[in-house]
Amino acid sequence: MANESNKKPAMPASATGVGDRPKKKTFLDRHQILERNVTLLAVLSLIVVSIGGIVQIAPLFWLENTIEDVEGMRPYTPLEMAGRNIYIREGCYVCHSQMIRPMRDEVERYGHYSLAAESQYDHPFQWGSKRTGPDLARVGGRYSDEWHVDHLRDPQSVVPESVMPKYGYLEDRLIEGEHIGDVLATNAFVGVPYSEEMIENAQADFAAQIDPYGDFDGLVERYGENVNVRNFDGAAGISEADALIAYLQMLGTLVDFSTFTPVASR
Ligand code: HEC
Repeated sequence: MANESNKKPAMPASATGVGDRPKKKTFLDRHQILERNVTLLAVLSLIVVSIGGIVQIAPLFWLENTIEDVEGMRPYTPLEMAGRNIYIREGCYVCHSQMIRPMRDEVERYGHYSLAAESQYDHPFQWGSKRTGPDLARVGGRYSDEWHVDHLRDPQSVVPESVMPKYGYLEDRLIEGEHIGDVLATNAFVGVPYSEEMIENAQADFAAQIDPYGDFDGLVERYGENVNVRNFDGAAGISEADALIAYLQMLGTLVDFSTFTPVASR
């Protein structure tokens, strides 16, 4: 210690005259201006992030293969569309997702992973973010209509440990589909390929799907062979349960996965 106190303090570099030349400002020095000015930093960050976003998102609007055309996809029939709206109104999406991810456990449990094309006519899509109950993307045809009636009326009667609420009142609410043409027209406005003819005949098609003894030729002609025509809830009249079950029974059934081959570039 004694030695050290005898040492002369080192002279500061600036005082020696060495290295005193005006320093060139480096890039990092300039960056300090940003680091000290929050507003400028926020504005410039926003610009940088926007450029990144545009570069990622904009090409998707023009690239042809963004939406893969998949055979079998068709717009919802008027009855299914009504059922879909009931599904959304009742908040079924709060507990149920409709998107099977391409992971082994999911594919083994629910079936082929969901394709983007399978949601192409959904406004809004029902992918969901929570599974209190199982994924419903391919529930169509998995159970009988009677099972759905029982399950909606009293889920615990078929699955004792179920926490799903009862929706029995849907059976008692009869609907006539007087506004379903407007619903189709609105969907057509955002790009769903509903033709003038489909919109004009919406209410007739809505009723035709529930009556296997009626005249449903027009319905099948407009929407295709894979439309389920039957009395879904087994009771007279068209109830909200009819519409909801019609929707559930077609979910995930449109694409035939025994013949489907994904585009190689994907
Ligand atoms: C509080 C959460 C919750 C809500 C809300 C809910 N469910 Fe469920 N759902 C469940 C649970 C849990 C199960 C699994 C047990 C069972 O089958 O009841 C289930 C099962 C199902 C199943 C059988 C799925 C399968 O593959 O076995 C269907 C179909 C279904 N729900 C339809 C609906 C519909 C339609 C609605 C809206 C009207 C709805 N759920 C609302 C929790 C919910």
